[in-house]
Amino acid sequence: MNSSLSHQSSKVIAIDGPSASGKGTIAERVAAILHRDYLDSGALYRLTALYAQQSQIDWSNEAEIASLASALPVQFSEGKILLHQQDVTQAIRDEKIGMGASQIAAFPSVRVALLQRQRDFLTERGLVADGRDMASVVFPDAELKIFLTASAQVRAKRRALQLGLPTHGASFEKILNDIEKRDAADQSRAVAPLKPVADAYTLDTSALNIQESVQKILNWYRIIKK
Ligand code: DC
Repeated sequence: MNSSLSHQSSKVIAIDGPSASGKGTIAERVAAILHRDYLDSGALYRLTALYAQQSQIDWSNEAEIASLASALPVQFSEGKILLHQQDVTQAIRDEKIGMGASQIAAFPSVRVALLQRQRDFLTERGLVADGRDMASVVFPDAELKIFLTASAQVRAKRRALQLGLPTHGASFEKILNDIEKRDAADQSRAVAPLKPVADAYTLDTSALNIQESVQKILNWYRIIKK
């Protein structure tokens, strides 16, 4: 972001929230409706974790990981994510990679290494960006800030259904446990922890479907544009 614009509102809708809150699907739909670009910032942390794994660099090695993050050989092309020309669209969604992403995301130098790359997604088309610190750090001048959440139980249920797994029993408990662990890690880290900023609209989607959630955000957008 150009510092001379720092006191103006940017053409960005920032959507932050915990894992499995549905923010990706919702943010992508809002972007399509408003003809804006979409940034899935979590994908950059996931790509960094995957790239480290492929390069046999331990997720605890901050300096090496930050150096990988600053030179990620990534391309976003026609809905696919390529790392070194290899299609990793599915591979980065693995829960283990999600945990690794959460671990490396706690390193300040990794966050700095990915900062400008995220801001570069903003063009005159405007952007809908989702993540954990879109409103607090990456786009603090966003014109609309949403904190999207849902109870851990509801999120675990949605994740189980997405994976075609039962919504009770041992596999469900494992999903719920993973979600709670990742929430705790993302909320308690020292840098850019997940938390709503003072000027965010909070949207609890526990009792809402995707369509209703998208509609709420579009309504807020129309109100602030009046
Ligand atoms: O949104 P996601 O589940 O794809 O994100 C994976 C991890 O990356 C998440 O647990 C924390 C980290 N992350 C972050 O620290 N900041 C962001 N803006 C996006 C993701």
